[in-house]
This record gives sequence, C-alpha cells and structure tokens, in this order.
Amino acid sequence: MGSRLDWFIPVVVAAMAASAMAYTVIVPDSVPSTLVDTPQTGLSIYTDNAHTDPNEQQAVYDIMKATGNGWATTIPDICKGRWHGIECVPDNNRILHVVSLSFGALSDDTAFPTCEEGAYISPSLTKLPHIRRLFFYKCCTDGPQPILSFLGRLGKSLESLVLRENGHVGIIPEELGNLTQLKVLDLHGNGLVSSIPNSLGSLSNLRLLDLSENKLEGQIPQSIKGLRKLNVLNLNKNLFHGPIPDQIGCCTSLIKLDLSSNQLTGPIPDKLESLKSLLLMDLSFNELSGPIPSTIGELGSLEALVLKGNQMGSSQIPESFGKLRSLMAMVMSNVGLSGPIPESLGKLSKLRVLHLDNNRLNGTIPKSLSELGDLSELRLNQNKLTGPVPFTKEMLWRLGRNIHLSNNSGLCYSPEEEREEDDGSLSPLGIKYCKLKTTAHISSHRHLHLSNQIAPFPSSSAAMSRRAYDLALYLVAALLVLVWFLAL
Ligand SMILES: *[C@@H]1O[C@H](CO)[C@@H](O)[C@H](O)[C@H]1NC(C)=O
Ligand SMILES: *[C@@H]1O[C@H](CO)[C@@H](O)[C@H](O)[C@H]1NC(C)=O
Ligand SMILES: *[C@@H]1O[C@H](CO)[C@@H](O)[C@H](O)[C@H]1NC(C)=O
Repeated sequence: MGSRLDWFIPVVVAAMAASAMAYTVIVPDSVPSTLVDTPQTGLSIYTDNAHTDPNEQQAVYDIMKATGNGWATTIPDICKGRWHGIECVPDNNRILHVVSLSFGALSDDTAFPTCEEGAYISPSLTKLPHIRRLFFYKCCTDGPQPILSFLGRLGKSLESLVLRENGHVGIIPEELGNLTQLKVLDLHGNGLVSSIPNSLGSLSNLRLLDLSENKLEGQIPQSIKGLRKLNVLNLNKNLFHGPIPDQIGCCTSLIKLDLSSNQLTGPIPDKLESLKSLLLMDLSFNELSGPIPSTIGELGSLEALVLKGNQMGSSQIPESFGKLRSLMAMVMSNVGLSGPIPESLGKLSKLRVLHLDNNRLNGTIPKSLSELGDLSELRLNQNKLTGPVPFTKEMLWRLGRNIHLSNNSGLCYSPEEEREEDDGSLSPLGIKYCKLKTTAHISSHRHLHLSNQIAPFPSSSAAMSRRAYDLALYLVAALLVLVWFLAL
C-alpha cells in the first residue's frame, strides 16, 4: 500500500483532484451576480449599518434547526454571528447575503456545525437566492433519506454541491441537471442506486463529478459529452456495466478519469486519445476486453495508467506506450498480456512503478529497461519471460525488495564478473545465475571457493577468489621447493 501511495500522491496533487479537497481548490472564474467575494477575515469587512437580508436570515434559522443546530436562532444577525460554516457577502446596498453553508466535522481544524440525530436538509435552502456553496458531510447518516429534488431549484447561483458520505439513499434526482452554474457535484460515499440521469449532461460548467462509492448501476450515459469543462470524473466503486462510451473522449479537459471497480465491459475506446490533459487513467477491476488500443500512447500528459484486474483475453503491450513520456506509474498486473515487453518502454524516463506481473509475457526483458533511472518498483513475476536479466547490480541493489522476478519460464542473472557457482545470493529474486561458461573452469576453482561472500550481489568476490587461487599456487610451489630442498 505504501508504495502505491508514493506515486499516487504526486499525481493527485498535480491534478488538484483529491476529491476531499476539490471544492476548496476549484475557484469560480466569473462571478455571476453583482456580489463581490471578499475574504472572510472578520467583521471589519462589513460596514456598521450592513445587515443580513431578513428573508435569508429566517431561512438560515430553518436550515440550522433542521440539522439540530437550534442555537443559531439566538443570533440576532446570522451573517455577523460568524460561526465556521457560514459565509456572507454584502451587495451595493449593504445588505448581507448568504453564499455558503457547511456542515460536518471534516477535520480537526475545520469544525463546521455538526448534525444531530434526525437531521435533514431543509427546503428553506430555496429561499437563499445567492447561495453558491453547500457542503454537507456525514450529516444525515442516522436517518437515511433521499436527495430531494428541490435542490434543482438553486440553479441560478449554486456552484458547488457536496453531499459527501451523507447517508443518502434512493436515486440522483433528474432536477440536479438544472444546476447549470454547478462546478462541483460530489455525492461520494452514499447509498445511491439506479443510473446517472441523462440530465447531468447539461451541467456544462462542471469541473468535478464524484459519484464514487455508491451503488449506481446502468450504463455511463452518452450525455456525458456535454461536460466539456470537466477536470475530474470519479465513478469508482459502483455497479456500472456496459461499455465505456466513446463520448468520454469529448470531455477534453479531463485530468483524472477513475472508472475503477465497476463491471464495465467491451474494449477501451480509441477515442480516449483526445484526452490530452489526462494525468490519471484508472480503469482497473472491470471486465474490459482487449486489445489495449495503441492510441493510449498519444496521451502525452499521462502520469499514471492503471489497468490491472481486467481479463482482457490476449493483448500485447502496444509499442506506442514508449511515447508516454510523462508516465510515472504503469500498473497492468493480471490483464492477460502476452507477447514481448516492448523495447520502447525504456524511453519512459520518469517511470517509477512498473507492474506487469501475472500475465503471459514471453521473450527476454529488454535491455532498455536498465536505463530507467527513477524506477523504484518493478514487478515482472508470474510471466513466461526467459533469458538473462539485463540489470546491473547497482540497479538490483536500488530496487531491493521492490523487484519481483520469480515464477517465470527461464530468467537468469548473468553478472559482469566471472562466478564459480550459485551461492544462493539470488534466491530472494527467485532466479538463478545463468549457465556457467565452462565446466573445466568451475572444477579448477571449486576447492578454493570462498564462502564469506557479500550477499546478495558481491562485486569483488570473483577477483578475491582469483587472488586466493594465485596465493595457493604460490604456497604449493613454495612447499614443493621446501620438500625438494629438505630431501637433498
Ligand atoms: C428542472 O428539471 C426537470 C427535469 O429535468 C424539469 O422537468 C423542470 O422543468 C426543470 N425546472 C426548471 C425550473 O427548469
Ligand atoms: C511468445 O508466445 C507466442 C505465442 O503466444 C509465440 O508465438 C512466440 O513465438 C513467443 N515468443 C517467444 C520469444 O517465445
Ligand atoms: C509463484 O507461484 C506459486 C504457485 O503458483 C504461487 O503460490 C506464488 O505466490 C507465486 N509467487 C509470486 C511471487 O508470484
């Protein structure tokens, strides 16, 4: 797990796509109303005679009561009450409007009001005409309830709707497709069922769509092509089936595409080659079929490609993968790969993680892989590879426990120096030394074999044994001379 995170973190940070943080990093690029956002630094930003719109004040009282936060009704002017979790901005007439409400203990230093037992989301939200951000985290978990369709009526202003691990059941209401200003829709970790409504394809301003860890089923709708500004699509851990629609190729702003752990079938569409900004593609643990399209090699920005756990039948690693010059992780364990490992993979100079284990790859390990200077994890075990392993001792030392070569058809190691016999130093790698050159050479050295070699890859033992041999010859000669001398 640790090593997975090692490469995963830079990818996610680069994508600014850690789904838990996305609603704070995605900044609106235009302000739809006359309201001007000001940093929430304290009361000083409000002029003395500014006050909260009375209708909005009443609505916030309702919303707070519905979540079990009745204490808020004792605050005479809620925008000046300034608890963590409410944000207001003044208009030109010094009326304060509520633009953001948040609930739930996200972390130790972000303490929004928590929800009490029986909490629900009040329809009074529709009385907040300027609301831009709604954030409910682990709020309605005691009494599971559906996402109500009235939220679709916040369409004029709402930019971010986060109902994360919020205990929702039932369907995604079609009316959410009316939230045309929406940039973030995060419904992660609920118990939502049924399919994605087609209407979500009208959310043309959406940057992040996270529906992961629900029980959603059906096909990924073709209407997804309407999401031209989407940066992050996360449908991980659901029950989606059917093909990956070609139309995902229209979401040309995608940075992160995670469709892993579903029941998707059919081939990986060629059309994904148009996702030129993509950093992460995770299609693992589906039922996708091969062959792997060579057009994936055109994704020049891609940093992580994760396809493991698909039974793709027989597929080869496309030669074109050598063009993925940004790639840091290629994870293709157990996908039914056959044929050779292409020489071209040696050009992936940023590669840190290469998992090709549990396939039917044959032929030799290309020498070019020894040029991958950043490689820190290599799994080639459980294949049909043969021939000498082309890595230097230094590279093997560097990879240490993170190189897996066992259970192949005939891999062996051929060190630069001469060796006498297998001393067991390669057994952690699960391979043996390559066939020794001449048997005569071995037997002449055998009796002088040094046992205190430096495991697992001694650099100077061969030279040492040569020196010991010379010394022994010298001693024998000296002894003969002595015997001969004494006999005289
Ligand atoms: C909202 O969406 C629903 C279904 O998608 C539609 O029937 C309704 O007319 C929409 N309402 C508004 C106000 O646009
Ligand atoms: C690899 O396997 C294929 C059949 O799957 C075979 O045609 C090919 O000759 C093999 N290559 C080597 C180098 O063994
Ligand atoms: C090697 O194969 C054996 C038997 O199939 C299996 O138990 C073992 O886990 C495999 N080891 C590796 C490292 O793949």
